[in-house]
Amino acid sequence: MTEHLSSTEPDAIARAAECLRRGGLVALPTETVYGLGADARDDRAVARIYAAKGRPGFNPLIVHLPDAARAFAYGQANEEARRLADAFWPGPLTMVLPRVEAAGLSLLVSAGLPSVALRVPAHPVARDLLIAFGGPVAAPSANPSGRISATTAQHVLDHLGGQVDLVLDDGPSAVGLESTVVDLTGPVPTLLRPGGLPVEALEAVLGRKLARAGSDDAAPRSPGMLTQHYAPRAKVRLDAQAAHPGEVLLGFAGTPGATLDLSPAGDLVEAAANLFAHLHRLDAAGAETIAVAPIPESGLGLAINDRLRRAAAGR
Ligand code: TXA
Ligand code: MG
Repeated sequence: MTEHLSSTEPDAIARAAECLRRGGLVALPTETVYGLGADARDDRAVARIYAAKGRPGFNPLIVHLPDAARAFAYGQANEEARRLADAFWPGPLTMVLPRVEAAGLSLLVSAGLPSVALRVPAHPVARDLLIAFGGPVAAPSANPSGRISATTAQHVLDHLGGQVDLVLDDGPSAVGLESTVVDLTGPVPTLLRPGGLPVEALEAVLGRKLARAGSDDAAPRSPGMLTQHYAPRAKVRLDAQAAHPGEVLLGFAGTPGATLDLSPAGDLVEAAANLFAHLHRLDAAGAETIAVAPIPESGLGLAINDRLRRAAAGR
């Protein structure tokens, strides 16, 4: 039985922390998307995440902490990691660092890799929960594997209801895209996944360009780069100027005839915040094909197009 709890209930944080302590699964709000959280030291709890998501066992999870000092207890920070933490934590940045083996994380969290992905979320409810729980929380996006991420508590209930013990509801996610994932384990920092933090901002702080992991399925640096990771049930057709018969049209900046518009005003931040919710709505309406208007390839448009291309791939 899934408990649906508003974050404004007086004891909501304490109850969610208690659920984590008992090895439970808690869907928690973050500023990017909802996460499916469990105690990152508890193998069984982490295994329940994989089971609930139907996620392939090779896809490692992000570990969430309330501040950089606690995060770096689990992953070895170099000088660039510290600089990025100072600039962007708390916020929509995930750093992949060499795993501190003695720190007690479940091996399942890293899916066998010698690295760990760490993030300090900016959401006050996530932060309060992490502090109340007092340990590391493994939390992938709270969607079944291969489906689009959840940006509201209702998405979680619709798609993972029954498999989650508690859903902590704090309304829609502000950013609406997952965090940007950067690998700092090699000589050159490498972008594994574009996301809510623009790449340009990272490069400005680092003073150098990020290497790009190939989105080549044969040798993914980040398993999350697998092409179909973000697919809705419907087929997706990109760069559509208009809907063909039988299609629904996802517009941008006032596309004529659009069924839904990501941002009538043409604002990429608004479009990112709406992306998953609009795809969910069009998918839920039973459309066979979702046609999507062109989205500019700049700023958050890069991450939006990345998600859309994955959604369109091979369907
Ligand atoms: O915004 C977010 O990042 C959300 C919220 C809940 O924090 N979480 C999220 O987690 O999107 P998930 O599990 O859906 O995506 C994690 C990404 C995947 O692409 C995964 O392959 C990559 O991070 N990743 C995790 N650990 C890794 C590691 N050790 N090495 C390389 N990639 C890793
Ligand atoms: Mg995900």
